[in-house]
Amino acid sequence: MRAPLPSLLLALLSISATLGSARVLDATVNLTAVLDTLSATSFEYIVVGGGNGASPSRLRPAGSRLTPSLHAAGLAVAARISQSSPSRKVLVLEAGQSGAGNPGIDIPGLAGTTLGTAVDWSFFTAPQEQAGTRSIFWPRGKVLGGSSALNFLVSTRPNAAEQDVWASLAGSSAWSWQNLLPFYKKAEHFFAPGTNTENEVPTFTASAHGTTGPIDVSYPPYLAPSFRGFFQSLRALGVPAAQDLHSGNNVGVNYAPSTIDPSDRSRSYSVEYLQVAPNLVVVTGAQVTKINFAGTKDTAGDVVARGVTFVPVGGDQKVVANASREVILSAGTVQTPQLLELSGIGDPAILNPLGISTLVNLPGVGANLQDHPAIVDVFRLKPGVPSLDQLQDPVVLAAALADYAQGRGILTEALFPLAYLRLSDFLNASELAQVETLGSQANNPQLSAQQYGASQTLWSKNVPVMELLSVNVYFGNGEAEPNQSYVSLAACLQHSLSRGSIHITSSDPLAPPAIDPNYLQSQLDTFLLAKAGQYLRRVATQSPLADFVESEAEPGPAVQSEQQWEDWTRSVVRTEYHPIGTASMTARANGGVVAPNLKVYGTANVRVVDMSVVPVHVSSHTQTVAYAIAEKAASLILSGA
Ligand SMILES: Cc1cc2nc3c(=O)[nH]c(=O)nc-3n(C[C@H](O)[C@H](O)[C@H](O)COP(=O)(O)OP(=O)(O)OC[C@H]3O[C@@H](n4cnc5c(N)ncnc54)[C@H](O)[C@@H]3O)c2cc1C
Ligand SMILES: *[C@@H]1O[C@H](CO)[C@@H](O)[C@H](O)[C@H]1NC(C)=O
Ligand SMILES: *[C@@H]1O[C@H](CO)[C@@H](O)[C@H](O)[C@H]1NC(C)=O
Ligand SMILES: *[C@@H]1O[C@H](CO)[C@@H](O)[C@H](O)[C@H]1NC(C)=O
Ligand SMILES: *[C@@H]1O[C@H](CO)[C@@H](O)[C@H](O)[C@H]1NC(C)=O
Repeated sequence: MRAPLPSLLLALLSISATLGSARVLDATVNLTAVLDTLSATSFEYIVVGGGNGASPSRLRPAGSRLTPSLHAAGLAVAARISQSSPSRKVLVLEAGQSGAGNPGIDIPGLAGTTLGTAVDWSFFTAPQEQAGTRSIFWPRGKVLGGSSALNFLVSTRPNAAEQDVWASLAGSSAWSWQNLLPFYKKAEHFFAPGTNTENEVPTFTASAHGTTGPIDVSYPPYLAPSFRGFFQSLRALGVPAAQDLHSGNNVGVNYAPSTIDPSDRSRSYSVEYLQVAPNLVVVTGAQVTKINFAGTKDTAGDVVARGVTFVPVGGDQKVVANASREVILSAGTVQTPQLLELSGIGDPAILNPLGISTLVNLPGVGANLQDHPAIVDVFRLKPGVPSLDQLQDPVVLAAALADYAQGRGILTEALFPLAYLRLSDFLNASELAQVETLGSQANNPQLSAQQYGASQTLWSKNVPVMELLSVNVYFGNGEAEPNQSYVSLAACLQHSLSRGSIHITSSDPLAPPAIDPNYLQSQLDTFLLAKAGQYLRRVATQSPLADFVESEAEPGPAVQSEQQWEDWTRSVVRTEYHPIGTASMTARANGGVVAPNLKVYGTANVRVVDMSVVPVHVSSHTQTVAYAIAEKAASLILSGA
């Protein structure tokens, strides 16, 4: 653990960190400085959306990372281009502001407390037809670092077979497991596990990890007793142990590492990339409203982007920023399709009624939305079993913060054990036969032949379908009881057959788009989630987890029959926060939006670098995927592809 440093040394560290990192200006604080920079610099690349940054918080000792930064994929691609040569002029425009000093961002155990605050876009879905017509909360980071600043810090990677199906949908082996693995590693700085409070020893495969990237991946020193219980109960029920959820073989349960800087146990997120790019210019508080195009097409008949227009958040002045080479959209699965549509790229049937003329007819924009739908069973813990619920008590919180300042205790924890189950891991023979029927193409007309084929391939290769995880706090569907501690067990469907969309409903760029994930559109999704909910009830009644559990709070004993479980599933289904697919990397004729080099079809120089390009979902948390896409994008761009 870090010893307290003399303040002079801290000051020196802070100066060198500032000198070595990107320049961050805020359009809402000093627009004059931003305008001066825009007119003084001829930018080659503009990246829209910057997700990641960090800085010292009041609540932890100042130290390692002292600079704010941007969004997940956007910051990573911008930093890598900028880093390649001092003469590369790269501008990042991010709507949110720096999250520096926000303890809810920095402290792992406080993850989730930022949801619904100023650093969150706080979207809601359209009313979900198959889920009680509820509008479901959909957080997304509105801060430098984007959703990587708000997420639950879990680090995993897809199954190798999923990455290969993605490559085949893309029509390019560049995106296969083998070929993308170096880019996953490039983002990562992995630290092997030390000891933890439950004396559990996480297994890992050293060769799967990177050790020189900006994003720290490590194991917390605090392991909740209920987390050990969850892991061991799953093993007792026959779930295999996974060696490492980063290795491409992710079947089974494993203690997964988290994106945490082990030197001070603070969140490691995309802002770390600012440290490798001293020439990068980042403007925060700048919401991009459209891409600007040249009046004429190029010789290939493609439209040519000249730059973007943005507004300082809260203001009404329109500012034009020019880019001599490319505009790179990294606004995420929600806002990348929104910006394409606002700029005239999309389905004329959506654009025309809003008075937007179609520059590129591309009906795939905003379609093919896929998420990981989730349900959460909640259990009351016996008195004295530690959980984050206890931090409601100011005395307990103060003690936990004091521990955290020493690099230990419950606030260093993140989601730790995760299980990835195949169908056969939680379904019996007759249930597997039901899956065949409910999952048939005839029962899922929403799937194109290509998308249906992709899911068939994945099932035949035995990739995980269901993720199970435990949360060491009330994470249920209503309200926690006062002075009660909980463990929440989530089942998250990794290969939903439902398909949704995200489209603008207004030409006003500041109006949020309509988000319709179409949860439970496929009956198979409801069936699988209801079965997994029942399985989690079994996990909680299996020792050793059962030894910590007092009683089931949700859904509670009234829910027993198959029908009751499915009804309950419809009443509580929500997001695991992993939307993808609204600018899919696949053939234009199959609804694709970007080519394998990430360029938007019909454009000469607009690329998408974020989770919206993923054509079919993967059994993994998604931040590592966002980083890998960004690292790959930088390599494509710098090699002239
Ligand atoms: C609550 C939550 C928990 C999660 N937990 C995990 C986890 O534990 N592990 C994991 O791996 N993944 C997790 N994820 C998912 C992961 O964080 C995301 O998949 C990843 O960050 C997506 O990266 P992105 O670059 O596609 O988009 P984002 O990170 O969302 O970045 C988009 C950026 O663009 C900006 N932007 C949008 N529109 C505009 C505009 N018009 N002008 C300027 N800027 C704009 C946004 O403000 C944002 O900064 C979680 C996500 C959430 C929300
Ligand atoms: C804003 O930036 C300009 C140009 O960099 C600078 O001269 C001015 O002092 C700044 N204004 C404020 C209020 O910081
Ligand atoms: C951006 O380009 C437009 C059109 O070419 C030009 O009028 C404008 O002055 C440029 N803006 C800057 C800041 O260079
Ligand atoms: C499979 O599980 C169901 C409950 O979902 C049960 O009714 C059925 O008897 C089981 N079938 C077999 C073959 O065990
Ligand atoms: C919760 O615990 C606190 C402190 O132990 C106590 O003051 C309070 O009355 C309790 N509240 C309830 C509703 O039991």
